[in-house]
Amino acid sequence: MFNPVSAYQNIAVIGTGYVGLVTGAGLAEYGNTVICADIDDAKIQNLQIGIIPIYEPGLQELVIKNMEHRRLSFTSNVADAIQTNDVIFIAVGTPMGDDGNADMRAVNSVLQTIAQCIHSPKPENQHILNKRKKIIVIKSTVPVGTGQWARKQLEAMGISPDLFYMVSNPEFLKEGSAVHDFLYPDRIVIGTNHYYPYITMLDIYKAASEKNIFILETSIETAETIKYASNAFLAVKLSYINELANLCDKTGADIAIVAWGMGLDQRISQQFLQPGPGFGGSCFPKDSLALLRIAQKLGTDLHVVEASLIANEKQKRKPVEKLLHLMDNNIAGKTIAVLGLAFKANTDDIRYSPASTTVQMLLENGAFVQAYDPAAIQNMKKLFPNITYSSSAYEALNKADAAIIVTEWAEFSQLDLERVKNLLKTPIIVDTRNMLDPYALKQAGFAFSTMGRGHKNSL
Ligand code: UDX
Repeated sequence: MFNPVSAYQNIAVIGTGYVGLVTGAGLAEYGNTVICADIDDAKIQNLQIGIIPIYEPGLQELVIKNMEHRRLSFTSNVADAIQTNDVIFIAVGTPMGDDGNADMRAVNSVLQTIAQCIHSPKPENQHILNKRKKIIVIKSTVPVGTGQWARKQLEAMGISPDLFYMVSNPEFLKEGSAVHDFLYPDRIVIGTNHYYPYITMLDIYKAASEKNIFILETSIETAETIKYASNAFLAVKLSYINELANLCDKTGADIAIVAWGMGLDQRISQQFLQPGPGFGGSCFPKDSLALLRIAQKLGTDLHVVEASLIANEKQKRKPVEKLLHLMDNNIAGKTIAVLGLAFKANTDDIRYSPASTTVQMLLENGAFVQAYDPAAIQNMKKLFPNITYSSSAYEALNKADAAIIVTEWAEFSQLDLERVKNLLKTPIIVDTRNMLDPYALKQAGFAFSTMGRGHKNSL
């Protein structure tokens, strides 16, 4: 894919979760020599033989290819990886804490290990420390101000600022297309207050800049803000189109055409204008709330971000509310087929998935659930062990009283409506992703509900 160029050859990526693994494999593909380190020994042992713990198209191939080219390796000895490399990417998780702030414990733990390694380098690595400062690159999504905070943490641990540089290099990967997003990003953001780490980062990303990928150099705080601001903006865009779809449900306008008409304005663009059952995933809900908490702490308003989160909580209730409307508020004892559990298509990730709200609300209303997802069943079983899981969409639809499409897996748009009708006890369907043709549904005799596709009476 890329012609490796003479890049900086000495990178440790700490954390082999979603971001760390894609980053490690991607940086290796760019021509760097990368070691990915994680405290989870079992995970590392699997990675060493090419077994990838997450579902991400193209990632396994990229990992194996770069392992074969000896540009990518794995270790559970995090301290050793830090000691023997000059550039340390921190890519550990920053999940949402109970108070909505990012939980920084994993980042702090890596900083402690870095401090120990700088304190007492192996004798054979002494020259590295003397010659070059460590470059600590924060890849994880972290609150604005983390670069400064990390510097102070290290100083408090007795590490002189002369021994390291801090860099912010946020990731903008989408699950399901993360490999492509890493290799061909819209932009690479490098936040640093010094020249040397900047040119080192340019060297690391040399293969990307040769493909004319835009590299933006900023201060650390600006880079950190770009990440949160981008995610919160996209979340706002989604809540906006979701609320407009709800309005179209009332007016009879067709949101698909409305969104298309809006998107023809280049300032708006066609992207992120698909209404749905609310946004989920590991980023939008967490990052929007974290940004809001930062603003609140600093005494400034982010009303728009706050409103998008409130709208999203309401939106996640829509699928079952629409079903209740279609079934005269009577779903107790009925079996409902739930098609799609992942928070979006092409991933097995169910974090903050609207499907969890759907299943939970169905159970609270006394319904039985027959669920199907091509990739996320194993994950959902941990949350809802007692619902029925099916091995195909048609199996889930069999003898169900109604169906709800929650995730936009492509296969659901190919459903044979006559077959669906024959399998269901009553032809009732809520299509929260607007995957099915409303006219075909109508012709086939379904009672159905879309997200704002102009069926005033099928709310
Ligand atoms: C997102 C950002 O896009 C990425 O840049 C960042 O690094 C991490 O967060 P991801 O969470 O993988 O990526 O998912 P994304 O494809 O952005 O979708 C987020 C949510 O929005 C999903 O729940 C998805 O179903 C929903 N969505 C997206 C819509 O409902 N309609 C759309 O038009 C687009």
